[in-house]
Parts: sequence; structure tokens; C-alpha cells
Amino acid sequence: MFTSTTMPPAPDVTRPVVNSFTEWDPLEEVIVGIVDGAAFPTWHAALPPVLPENQHETFRRMAGKPFPPERVAAARAELEQFAHILEAEGVTVRRPEPIPQRQPYRTLHWTSTGMYAAMPRDALLVVGDQIIECPMAWRSRYYESLAYRPLLKEYFRGGARWAAGPKPELSDDQFDLCWEDSGEQLPPRLVVTEFEPTFDAADFTRLGRDIIAQKSHVTNEFGIEWLRRHLGDEYRIHVLEFADTHPMHIDATLVPLAPGKLLIHPDRVPEVPRLFKGWDVMRAPRPVIPDNHPLYMTSKWLNMNILMLDEQRVVVERQDEPMIDAMKRFGLTPIPCDFRNFNSFGGSFHCATLDVRRQGSLESYL
Ligand code: ALA
Repeated sequence: MFTSTTMPPAPDVTRPVVNSFTEWDPLEEVIVGIVDGAAFPTWHAALPPVLPENQHETFRRMAGKPFPPERVAAARAELEQFAHILEAEGVTVRRPEPIPQRQPYRTLHWTSTGMYAAMPRDALLVVGDQIIECPMAWRSRYYESLAYRPLLKEYFRGGARWAAGPKPELSDDQFDLCWEDSGEQLPPRLVVTEFEPTFDAADFTRLGRDIIAQKSHVTNEFGIEWLRRHLGDEYRIHVLEFADTHPMHIDATLVPLAPGKLLIHPDRVPEVPRLFKGWDVMRAPRPVIPDNHPLYMTSKWLNMNILMLDEQRVVVERQDEPMIDAMKRFGLTPIPCDFRNFNSFGGSFHCATLDVRRQGSLESYL
């Protein structure tokens, strides 16, 4: 209940504080993640299907310990640079509040420690005027959205809708504890079961009324169905399958850039999905991150994980010259930003952000 001193101001009905329907409408306000306190998560069966093989031993050994401080410091400096670039482009930048990541917590079934608040794109989904806290499948991310609660409360008081998926138990029934890699020839065997709904927001990409989703090692059919019913008839969720043996997050696979402009992974998306018939398609150039650069949690295809500031301006990693050139040839205006050290933590510009407010309204593009 609101007391008289905490009464929310009357919502500004002409300009919702939360308003984002696409990946490309002109960006006005964005949350940029933080790496402060980032820690290796407690080891769990959900991790090996998506972590690079050469990181398994490190994650087992370092579980619950901080990431190397010099790597955290380098990533933090890049996040600051990114935030300044966004502000110089006229975007309001908001940050989460650090929460303790190494403090053990327990539920009825298990104990864990946390990870970070670096990737708001995973934990929170903005659709129109609502922010949804995702029922995430990793135990180490169970409380991740708490870092965003001060912002969520502020947005709610400003008139936004605030919802959360059913909090999953994440008991052993939620996971295929006998998981094995099914190899390149078969569809991927997913480590998450259909016990309860789970999803990460980054397994969805928004094109107005149409939202593209993928099932992954964190997003199950149950979770996609929950979201479909929650959003109702105004939205159409299309579930696509890609040639990805370790799917987790769609934003290094299929990335809408603007109406009629699509960026795809050249191997994971061998054929352009029929939904995008008539669109101009750019196949992402091969990434150029050197082999000796640590990537704790992802492939090098983070080069595709760009952020559109509008239909023209796109934030791209400064050293990724092939992508910068490709974007120019595609008629876009790249804005370079150093982000390779941040990449080590499992994401790039799209993962590190949540576009809270863009101009625009609900429209159909497909
Ligand atoms: N999971 C995606 C990749 O590793 C981001 O390419």
C-alpha cells in the first residue's frame, strides 16, 4: 500500500515510462548492466551444455569465487565508455544496484550463490509498457532481478506494468540430469525439462506484434506458452529452430535491425525463415576475436550482439572491423565502442542492455 509520502505521481499518459515494441525504434532510455561483484556461479547440471568446453574445469574449480579482478575492472571501464557513448547519442542510461553475489542462499530444494547483474537482457523482458521478470532456469540467477528492483519500482510508480513469470522451483525435475551432447546431426537435446515454465528474455526478439522465440537450454515450451498467454492476442509468438547445437539466447543467431533488415548467423540460419520473405538479409561476417582472448561463457559470435539506437545507428565492437564494414555496406551507421573485455563475461551490447523506452507504438512488420 502507498502511504501519502510514497504516493506514485500520476502516470504521464501521453508518454509511458516503459515503451518498447521493437529492437530498432528510436531509443530514449536504457538499462546498462554492471559487473561489480561478478562471481563464478555454483556448479550445476545446467551449465555444461552451454559453457565452452575449455571453461568447464575453470567453472568447477572457481565456483562461488570472484571473476579475476583485473578482468572485472577492464569490463567495468568498457561499460562506462558504452554508457557515455549512449548518453552522447541522447539516450538516458540507468544502472542496476549491486546485490551480494557470493552470499549463499537456499530454497526448499537446493543452495546456490549468484553470478552478476551484467546482462539485463536475460533477466527482464520489456514488451510495450510492461516489464516482465523472467523465470530463469539457472539456480545462480534465481535472485538476479533483485538488482533491478529499485528501477522496477520506479517504473511501476511512473505507470508501467510490472509482472513476473511463476517463480520456478528449479528442483532436479527441472533438469535432464543425464544430459549428453546429441552432436551435430540430431536436434539438440535440451537440459531443461518441461517440469515448470522457464525462460530467459534473451531467447525472444521483438518485431512489434510478432515476437520470435527459440527453445533453448534455459527456455522451454512451457515458458514460451506462459508468455504467449500472458501477452494475449495482441502478440504472435513464433518459435523458430536453428542449427545451433548449444542454444541459449537468440541474439547471436537472428537479429532484426530495422523494418525489412535482418542480420543472421551464417551457419545457424542456413535458410532465411519464411516469415522474413522479402527482407534484406545480411549474413554476419566471421568473428575476429583472437583465440587467446578469454570467453568464459559464449562463442565468438557475440559480434552479432549489437544494439540498435534507431533504424540507422548501431553500436558495434570497435575492433570488429569486418562487422563495421558490413554494417556500412548494409546502409547503417556504426558507432564503435570497446567491448571485448566485457565480452569475456558472456555478452555484448544487446545482452548488456535493456531498452526500457523507445519511441513508437505497436505495429506489424511481418
Ligand atoms: N549463446 C550464444 C553464443 O554462444 C550467445 O553464441
